Amino acid sequence: MNFLKGEKVKEPQEADILKAWYWTENALYLLDQRKLPLVEKYVKCETAQHVRKAIRDMVVRGAPAIGICGAIGWVLGFKQFIKNNIKTKLSKKRLEVFFNKMANLLSSARPTAINLSWAIDRMRKKTQEVLKNFSEKLDRIELEELYQILEKEALKIWEEDLKANLKISEYGKEILPDGGILTHCNTGALATGGYGTALGVIRKAYEEKRKINIFVDETRPFLQGARLTAWELSKLKIPFKLITDNTAGFLMKKGLIQAVIVGADRIVKNGDTANKIGTYSLSVLAKFHNIPFFVVAPSSTFDLSLETGEKIPIEKRNPKEVLVCFKSKIAPLKSKACNLAFDVTPGELITAFITEKGIIYPPYKENIEKLINEK
Ligand code: MRU
Repeated sequence: MNFLKGEKVKEPQEADILKAWYWTENALYLLDQRKLPLVEKYVKCETAQHVRKAIRDMVVRGAPAIGICGAIGWVLGFKQFIKNNIKTKLSKKRLEVFFNKMANLLSSARPTAINLSWAIDRMRKKTQEVLKNFSEKLDRIELEELYQILEKEALKIWEEDLKANLKISEYGKEILPDGGILTHCNTGALATGGYGTALGVIRKAYEEKRKINIFVDETRPFLQGARLTAWELSKLKIPFKLITDNTAGFLMKKGLIQAVIVGADRIVKNGDTANKIGTYSLSVLAKFHNIPFFVVAPSSTFDLSLETGEKIPIEKRNPKEVLVCFKSKIAPLKSKACNLAFDVTPGELITAFITEKGIIYPPYKENIEKLINEK
């Protein structure tokens, strides 16, 4: 197969249900999440720079999804590099410099979700492992072979994430109680390799005809709940109620919420968890009302290099996202705004973590490392 000609690559089946993106070998097509739910339009990414911009601008978002797209960005970047150097043999040294630049370019697109740098690290390791067996100056056949191996690795990351989500949903449905279930942000097919993490658990429970009433936080300012989770649930014909972010506490007081279930962008050794801004407030409310608070994530979201959540980098986004809503200014022109995209929920407020390797209960300092490092 000549990789420059481009041949259609099959996408994982389940990811097709909501078709958050697809890959054709020449390009990555991303459903533009900034435009949902009103417009369903795909953005074409042909280079690593395009992928970085798409991640940065939230065309695609959600921790596992940006990891998978980052890995595909690595593949597209390499393809472009070969195209630009078609007549020359490429030395390992030159490739090393190129891949280092690409790692920085892609992994710095967004700082909080560990899945992005995790996926880029995995692509880098695979690249190094393959290069070891090649000659000092790579000819076309070797470059083509390397390209194909890297493409396979990126698609493997995608498939593994989808499989992890399906497993997670099986574990999750066992501990999810019946009754009112509140979720925040978007953790479905749009945010992952398919099916979803927290939303995948909800989806599974619904598919198994459990008696659940789903409440979705609108999740200001990007409105991942109102625009994206509501879009996914509507497409899947799963009933839900959308609530404003400040409604949760009163619903809990009235006994209408039996569990809160959210995703994660980074979980560290002691269980401290970075997730969409507003997650921390929900965890405090849940504790006060004695409601279980579940965090759902694949093992690629765990960062065992950090002891506590203190050092998790928190992304600050443009204040305009708070001041302007659907192109309308909603505050006086000169207002300032604070737009932190994430917060950190302390491990002690989390009832359990639901992962593809099983459920993790406290004490997290021991149990997280034990399960995540398990083969
Ligand atoms: O800013 P976003 O939309 O990328 O934030 C996403 C979240 O916080 C999700 O809850 C998290 O990534 C889990 S996605 C399965």
